[in-house]
Amino acid sequence: MKKVTILDLVAAKNDSATLTMTTAYDATMARIVDDAGIDCILVGDSLGMVVAGHENTLEVTVEQVAYHCRAVRRGAPRPFLIADLPFMSYQTSVEEAVRNAGRLVQEGRAEAVKLEGGVAVAEQVAAIVAAGIPVCGHLGLTPQSVNAFGGFKVQGRSSAAAKQILDDAQALVDAGVFMIVLEGMPRELGAELTAEVTVPTIGIGAGLGCDGQVLVCTDLLGMNPDFKPRFVRRFIDGYGLLRGAMTEYVDAVKSRRFPAIEESFSTPTLTKESDSSPEHRVEEG
Ligand code: KIV
Repeated sequence: MKKVTILDLVAAKNDSATLTMTTAYDATMARIVDDAGIDCILVGDSLGMVVAGHENTLEVTVEQVAYHCRAVRRGAPRPFLIADLPFMSYQTSVEEAVRNAGRLVQEGRAEAVKLEGGVAVAEQVAAIVAAGIPVCGHLGLTPQSVNAFGGFKVQGRSSAAAKQILDDAQALVDAGVFMIVLEGMPRELGAELTAEVTVPTIGIGAGLGCDGQVLVCTDLLGMNPDFKPRFVRRFIDGYGLLRGAMTEYVDAVKSRRFPAIEESFSTPTLTKESDSSPEHRVEEG
């Protein structure tokens, strides 16, 4: 499969092709996602919740996103790679925003950055784009504003709130974003916004009217039995399957059924022939 570039993502809008995106935080998951044919991987600040077990994304740092992004790039060379600018890495000033976006490209090997907000961050978006770094916007239920929202709540339900989101989207497009993630909003608003803007939209809890869909990888794999919001579809019971395998491993070790003879090595016979056998080399290594 060929490397996905920003040109493929932007072209999808005119081609009416549906874009696919998920998150990844390590090389092992990234390899699976790449192999499955995904267009785009997001190293989201959701890593604060998924990897570190925090209640929200607010403690995530630029260093952490860069570290995980580098690992994902090693596992997945083909999909387009986007890194999240975490909370307080871009809101404080335009200079900070450009510097931190640059770090995610240089240290994280990201091909683009994502940030949350509209009119309020349009200046930052324009400056990052001017520095040669593609920017993906993020509107609706923007998790970095969880405290302002009073929880992870669907946004844009009133006509005033919907209009604000539409205005934010236009401000992002004018500032130069190449794509916008729409999270946690009525499907009617997701469809209307998608029809109005010239860039592709990627929905998460924003309905089928978006140009593509994103889900957090652990959500779509059913890895967290305690988290099943309405917008998540579990494509597998990952938690149940992995827990079952771990239980079998524990039982096999405790009952001394693991390792078997064929899963262990023997003392080498030091003849000329065995010296060069592959097994001998493994034992020596
Ligand atoms: O951090 C993240 O994973 C995200 C997705 C939910 C879009 O922003």
